[in-house]
Amino acid sequence: MVFTLAHLSDIHLGPMPRARRRDLFGKRVLGYVNWHRGRKLVHRADILNVLTRDLIEQEPAHIAVTGDLVNIGLPDEFILAAEWLHHLGSPGKVTAIPGNHDAYVRLHPDHGTGHWRPYMQSNDAGEAHLRTPPGGFPFVRRFGDIALVALSSAIPTMPFVAAGRLGSAQRAFLGLALEELGRQGLFRIVLIHHPPLPGQAGWRRGLRDAKALKDILKDKGVELVLHGHDHAQTVHELETVAGPAFVIGVPSASEAVAGRIPAARYNEYRIERVDGGWSCEMVGRAVADTAAHVWECERRVLRHR
Ligand SMILES: [Fe+2]
Ligand SMILES: [Fe+2]
Repeated sequence: MVFTLAHLSDIHLGPMPRARRRDLFGKRVLGYVNWHRGRKLVHRADILNVLTRDLIEQEPAHIAVTGDLVNIGLPDEFILAAEWLHHLGSPGKVTAIPGNHDAYVRLHPDHGTGHWRPYMQSNDAGEAHLRTPPGGFPFVRRFGDIALVALSSAIPTMPFVAAGRLGSAQRAFLGLALEELGRQGLFRIVLIHHPPLPGQAGWRRGLRDAKALKDILKDKGVELVLHGHDHAQTVHELETVAGPAFVIGVPSASEAVAGRIPAARYNEYRIERVDGGWSCEMVGRAVADTAAHVWECERRVLRHR
């Protein structure tokens, strides 16, 4: 049976709600000015709506959202993003993880990503493989032959820094999860906001423990790693103990179609167990130049066995 997983990222939901004076402090001040000076022209709600309408029409079995749902972490932004998630699908059909913009300032979870909790937790079948650690990540969701391992690389940082980190506890649990899921012969998909390989992003924007993460992925094995953060379509191959894996980044889901910026896009993965292995095809769907509809911009067989 074919399992279809849609992947979108970097929602940067707009328009931004009005900020109360008491909410504008620290890094948020700069972010607020940046948004109104230009970012709001790049990340547009109408573009996002065209893309998500098409995605919902495709009726994928599951949807993964890899972070940066909001912009400067205003309390109202998290509530609007929860409503957007709800529009996308039920918590059983949608898995979300946070990005650096979702950890823009340090917030009590009740005022932040806690609103998305039903979308950011394991399911019973996943919990049977890895009991979610106290920090909430990684969590595992299993759907038949497919296992999603969801990480959080979101950490608050100084202004002008958009770096991420997993930390030793998450990395240790990730190793255990991949080992166990590999033993069960499942197709393992890791979700992370930041590009996971060393050299994919510089010091200001990159994953601080990318080297250690790469070692775990190689040693324990993984089939697919999906990420965002770069707002670009990128494909890397990684040789692992279980064979070749693909590491794929997707453009932002709300970017206006303009010149050098890649159009808003999502990717759909069609995964099927075949004799002696897996078949996995990626279908890219992007917002057209007119911004009025979505078209199939790429189709690529990633693996067949
Ligand atoms: Fe982003
Ligand atoms: Fe990001």
